[in-house]
Amino acid sequence: MKCQKEKFILTGKNTYLNCAYMSPMLKKVEKAGIKGLKRKRKPYNLLPEHFFDEVETLQKNFSNLINCKEHKRIAIIPSVSYGLGNITNNTTISKGENVVLVQDQFPSNVYPWLSLTKRNNADIIFVERPKGVNNVGENWNKKIIKSISNKTKVVSIGTIHWADGTIYDLQKIRERTNEVGAKFILDGTQSIGALPFDVNKLKPDALICAGYKWLMGPYGIGLAYYGSAFDDGIPIEESWVNRKDSKVFSQLVNYKDSYGDLAKRYNVGQQSNFINIPMLNQGIKQLHAWGVNNIQEYCKNITKEGLKTIDKNKIWYEEGDYRAWHLFGLSPKKNLKKILKKIREKNIHISLRGETIRVSPNVYNNKRELDKFFNTISKNI
Ligand SMILES: Cc1ncc(COP(=O)(O)O)c(C=O)c1O
Repeated sequence: MKCQKEKFILTGKNTYLNCAYMSPMLKKVEKAGIKGLKRKRKPYNLLPEHFFDEVETLQKNFSNLINCKEHKRIAIIPSVSYGLGNITNNTTISKGENVVLVQDQFPSNVYPWLSLTKRNNADIIFVERPKGVNNVGENWNKKIIKSISNKTKVVSIGTIHWADGTIYDLQKIRERTNEVGAKFILDGTQSIGALPFDVNKLKPDALICAGYKWLMGPYGIGLAYYGSAFDDGIPIEESWVNRKDSKVFSQLVNYKDSYGDLAKRYNVGQQSNFINIPMLNQGIKQLHAWGVNNIQEYCKNITKEGLKTIDKNKIWYEEGDYRAWHLFGLSPKKNLKKILKKIREKNIHISLRGETIRVSPNVYNNKRELDKFFNTISKNI
């Protein structure tokens, strides 16, 4: 794969290594958004089927991306916190039972659990990142497995750690949750679209994703897979569109008791958003054209040599198998402020998460940009 910068609206001398914050916009995604915006000019051309067709295409596109065999298990959500709300609202937990999370995970996958456990006098176990600098990822995974017990009702983590790219051993965690009968919930926001994922193989109970990062979509729309554990749940809101036969607009006041198939009940109200849906569809379509495997490989190829130049005595980062290439964290032992200043002066864009410099390249970057970044760090440490 070669650099895909020309497909994006990326101008000026900025070196944008911050897809984990927000992806730049694909030209095709912008075009789809403008087309969607203009649709509202002529409402007489908007037919009832337009409320459903492109939503279904999006469900299918996303299903293919995560190898989910039933596209009706995909719901349109406005945010990860919303997607998680559907889950915590349908999870029962009692005193003495617990939810397992990892240390410093993204708050949208923490607050809903804090609220649920507090209401029910249940516990949260935050599995701490191991101290030290060697084999952190491997040992962290071992600690997660160890912390799951017969008292565990749910394990809810990111597919990778959002700040430093630690890869979790999802298959082993799934096996352990199956042993104790716990639900396994994943926030895929920081890896789906850049790192291969297989719902059919892993069989998580739910996978929630924001759309504006690695899926290349706009802000305000995300996607969620809900497995059979949630088939009979109660949704956050009671949207008319989610009811059975809602396609028949003339019969809407024939109120129905039942919801549409599978995850339809969890769709956000006004899910048919004529701007956001086609934009996210275009983004995911482009991911299919590139191939998620190739995206991860591309990020590795432009990064691996530069990373080798970093002095591990001065800067910590997770090694090989337990770290992604599209998102990784560098933790300098000193001179953090100076390094950040120099990075800014060179118009390099990264994020600071805690004491960690989060670097997240994608297919619009090239090796020269990564080398420039690593050089800047090495010179100023
Ligand atoms: C791992 C992760 N989950 C979720 C989100 C966004 O959450 P929400 O859609 O609730 O704003 C982010 C944003 O940075 C994230 O990094």
